[in-house]
Amino acid sequence: MTGTDIFSIDGRESHVVYTEGLPALDESGESLYVFDRNTAALFSRLPEGSVVLEPGEQSKSWTGVESILKAAFARGMSRDSVFIAAGGGMICDITAFAASVFMRGAGLRLIPTSLLSMVDASFGGKTAINFGGYKNLVGTFYPAGTITISPAFLTSLPLREFLSGLAEIVKYAMLGDASLYESLREKAAALTRAECRGDAGFLLDVIRRTLLIKARFVGEDPTEKGVRAYLNLGHTFGHGLEAATGFERFTHGEAVAWGTLRALDAGRELGITGRDYAAGAARLFTELGFPAKVSGVPAAEILRAMEKDKKKRLGRVKFVLQRNLCDTFCENLEQALVQKIVERGIV
Ligand SMILES: NC(=O)c1ccc[n+]([C@@H]2O[C@H](COP(=O)([O-])OP(=O)(O)OC[C@H]3O[C@@H](n4cnc5c(N)ncnc54)[C@H](O)[C@@H]3O)[C@@H](O)[C@H]2O)c1
Repeated sequence: MTGTDIFSIDGRESHVVYTEGLPALDESGESLYVFDRNTAALFSRLPEGSVVLEPGEQSKSWTGVESILKAAFARGMSRDSVFIAAGGGMICDITAFAASVFMRGAGLRLIPTSLLSMVDASFGGKTAINFGGYKNLVGTFYPAGTITISPAFLTSLPLREFLSGLAEIVKYAMLGDASLYESLREKAAALTRAECRGDAGFLLDVIRRTLLIKARFVGEDPTEKGVRAYLNLGHTFGHGLEAATGFERFTHGEAVAWGTLRALDAGRELGITGRDYAAGAARLFTELGFPAKVSGVPAAEILRAMEKDKKKRLGRVKFVLQRNLCDTFCENLEQALVQKIVERGIV
C-alpha cells in the first residue's frame, strides 16, 4: 500500500505520504535537515548543513532549538524554507517547534523513523521541548505540511523501541477501531518477532489505520478541549511511572501499557469497565511483552509524580477510563482509589 492521505487540522492541511522504500533526502530548494546521531546513521550521506543532535530526551531543549535556529539562519533560510526532521519523536517534536517559531512559522516536513513517531508524534500538530524538569512543558501547535511514512526504517529500530510504538497502536485501537484491535489480538505473537518489522505492507496498513483513528479525534477537537483528551488513555498513570523513574528506565510505550492497565483496573474497581474486556486487554499487553506489574518503583514515588503533574495542570487532570472497547469517558478519581490502583500495579 502506498498513497497519500490529506487531513485538515485546525484549518491547516497535513499530507501523509505512505511509501514502502526509504525516502530520498531532497536537497533542492531551501531546506534544513535535522537528525539525531542514530537516525543520521541510517543515511549514506547527509545533506549539507544538516543538524545532528545527540539521541535522547536531553536534546529536546532550548539548546537544541538554538542549534537548529542558528543553522537555519546560517543557511539564509526564509519563511518559505522547509525544516525537515528525520528521526523519532524527539527529533520530530523539536524540529516542529523550531519551524513554528522561525520567522513566525516556516515550512515543516516530518520523516518519522520510529514506530511511535509514525503513529503518534509526527501527526496532530503538537510540538514541544522539555523545560524546567518537565517533559513537553514548552511547545506550540503547528501541524506538519508533509509527513512521510516509511516502514523501511523500522528494520533497524531496536525491538524495545518497536514495542514502545506498538503499545500506542494498541491504545489507539482500544479507543477507536475494534477491527484493528481484534487483528492485533490475533497477531500478537507474530508482532514481537523480527520478521514483522520487514513486512512493509502489513505495517503500512496498521500505521495508516492508527493515524486514521488519531485523525478522527484530532479533527473533532484539535486543541484538546474535549475528545482529544481520550488519547491520553493510560498516560496519567503512565506518566507518573515515567517521571518517578527519571524517564530513563521505561520506554514511553511500556509506561503507557502499564498505565492503560491501571486505568482498566480503576474502571473495574468502580464497576464500570467490562470484566472480559479488561482481561482481554491485559492478555494482549502481556503477550506483547509488557508487564502488568513493575518492580523496584515505590508507589509513593509514582503518586508524588502524579500529584506534581496535577499541580502543573492546576488540578485539571481527569482520568481517561473505558466502559468497553471503543467506549471511553473521563472521570475524576478519589485519591484513595488512585493509590490502591498504583499499589496493585507494583510487585
Ligand atoms: N508531538 C506529539 O504529539 C507526541 C506524541 C507522542 C510522543 N511524543 C514525543 O516523542 C518522543 C518519543 O518518541 P520516540 O519513542 O520515537 O523517541 P526517540 O526519538 O528518542 O527515539 C527512540 C530511540 O530510537 C532511535 N531511533 C529512531 N529511529 C530509529 C531507527 N529507524 N533505527 C534505529 N534507531 C532509531 C533514536 O535515536 C532513539 O535512540 C518523546 O519526546 C515524546 O514526548 C510526541
